[in-house]
Amino acid sequence: MLNIALPKGRLGEKVYELFEKAGYECESIRENNRRLTFENPEKGIRYFWVKPSDVSIYVERGAADIGVCGKDILLEYEPDVYELLDLKMGKCRMAVAAPKGFRDNTAATLKVATKFSNIAAKHYAKKSRDIDIIHLNGSIELAPILGLSDVIVDIVETGKTLIENGLEPIEDIVPISARLIANKAHYGFKTDKINEIKNSLEKILENK
Ligand code: PRP
Repeated sequence: MLNIALPKGRLGEKVYELFEKAGYECESIRENNRRLTFENPEKGIRYFWVKPSDVSIYVERGAADIGVCGKDILLEYEPDVYELLDLKMGKCRMAVAAPKGFRDNTAATLKVATKFSNIAAKHYAKKSRDIDIIHLNGSIELAPILGLSDVIVDIVETGKTLIENGLEPIEDIVPISARLIANKAHYGFKTDKINEIKNSLEKILENK
């Protein structure tokens, strides 16, 4: 069995549809229940749903052979996995945003609220900008509104959340999309099967 970790949620459903189109369907996944694992013994695959930010942990530690997660997670946690393919879905960008009219006072330490502390630290280190990172777990847009931070580093998809909270993007850091990843050791001894899946997914993406 090849174990495949999919990110629970909207992106995961789109990703599963791609796997299905590529020939790796699993009928039982569409049943309305709370099960987290689904198998197709004929195809030799087993899917399981995990929290999007946990996919790379399952794959890095070998509990999953392959998985799909956002480039944001790969950049933030730097898991020791192979990145095999850009699935070109879940597209968004990592950006710095600030309240409208914000002016950076470079003489002071910049307070940055984010879920992505590593990405933010690296971004500002490159610019030699002194920052104080405030690590939050969600609703990042609140931080500058309440004076907890000057700016935020966060994912921007449509930009709606920023606009509705009086913020605007002031700097793009990196484009983000979903990636197919593989456990390094398992890729070594399941190369053919993993490559077969990767190539089938690639073909579907090319014909889109
Ligand atoms: C993400 C991100 C923004 C929002 C951006 O939040 O942190 O808040 O989506 O999307 P938009 O540009 O289309 O408005 P998510 O839904 O993952 O929740 P959380 O960060 O608050 O946990």
